[in-house]
Amino acid sequence: MADTHATTADAGTDGTVHDSLFTAAQYRAVFEAAPDGIVIVDGGGRIRDVNPRAEALFGYARDELVGQPVERLVPEAARSMHERVRAGFVHDPRARPMGAGLDLRGRRKNGGTFPVEISLSPLRTAQDVLVISTIRDVTERRRLRQFGFGALRAAEEERRRIARELHDDTAQRLAAILLRLRLLSAERTGPDRDRLLEEVRTELREAAEAVRRIARGLRPPALEDAGVATAIRAHVRTRFSEGGPRVELDLAPVDEVLDEEAKLVLYRIVQEALSNVVRHAEASRVIIQVDVSGDHVRAVVEDDGRGFDPRQPPRDDGRGLGLLGMRERATLVGGHVEVESEPGAGTRIRLHIPLYEGGAT
Ligand SMILES: Nc1ncnc2c1ncn2[C@@H]1O[C@H](COP(=O)(O)OP(=O)(O)OP(=O)(O)O)[C@@H](O)[C@H]1O
Ligand SMILES: [Mg+2]
Repeated sequence: MADTHATTADAGTDGTVHDSLFTAAQYRAVFEAAPDGIVIVDGGGRIRDVNPRAEALFGYARDELVGQPVERLVPEAARSMHERVRAGFVHDPRARPMGAGLDLRGRRKNGGTFPVEISLSPLRTAQDVLVISTIRDVTERRRLRQFGFGALRAAEEERRRIARELHDDTAQRLAAILLRLRLLSAERTGPDRDRLLEEVRTELREAAEAVRRIARGLRPPALEDAGVATAIRAHVRTRFSEGGPRVELDLAPVDEVLDEEAKLVLYRIVQEALSNVVRHAEASRVIIQVDVSGDHVRAVVEDDGRGFDPRQPPRDDGRGLGLLGMRERATLVGGHVEVESEPGAGTRIRLHIPLYEGGAT
């Protein structure tokens, strides 16, 4: 792109040359300022020009790229494929997105790769067909999309959890109440009638308590009022009875360094980890630890029970979503979960959640 008056690039489809609105320098400025990376490649696959955004994306200076094969910007594994596709494009040049539906990646100078979207358009010159490829870094978009999926799945898991509790607990109790009422309508008097009435009363009381518990599960009041550590302690008291495993708690206060959502995520993950200990582990000892380490909050639930193989895929009977749900919840707040377990060697669930901005460090 010489710094002279642009005329050649202004040839319309009918071949006439229109007066340019811009000088070549002004066109160059548009190229330089483009928010997407632009790489211009000649018919032989050599890079002819790149704009500053492309330099920034790929981590090269312009001089390091001009004259080089464009495959330098393509991950090694995809290079030979890229060469073939490029030859096809030169053969039939028309504007189109590249590799529609494929998971395209760019390769940085340091060897790292990143997801990209690329559109190609041909630019015919007197000597050659140049290819203008416009490259957009879609890392952030991908992340948001995954985040969206995660949020949906977490909501779905929450619905499943409620359905499960309603099914396993409330529905059973209501069925029992119905049965007793049927018996009662046959018993007009006598001690059986009093006993049945008393049983109905007990079942109703317990059903009401169960409904309250499910509702509490949605938004544990203890969490809002008393904070994470207290809520976990209260949960441990209701979940582990006499004769169960010994529970050791080591809970640092984290209410000041997590926002409301992150607190709920932490509490829910500990809750699910403990529910798994109760249901699957047959442990004799459980350690629950929450502390602040560097720039994140760390929570660990560890048992010495039977362990399992974490690489096993989740079952498709509607269960086996606990671990998946933990992971999804963690990503909702930018955190992650690690599951360490092995048959016979206990289980350790580790959660990391970044401190919220504005929180103490
Ligand atoms: N602490 C643990 N000790 C032993 N096995 C465990 C432990 N935690 C999980 N598992 C194993 O991993 C499996 C998957 O756990 P996950 O929480 O995903 O599902 P689940 O508890 O079976 O069902 P739910 O969807 O109700 O949570 C469990 O079925 C169990 O076999
Ligand atoms: Mg579970």
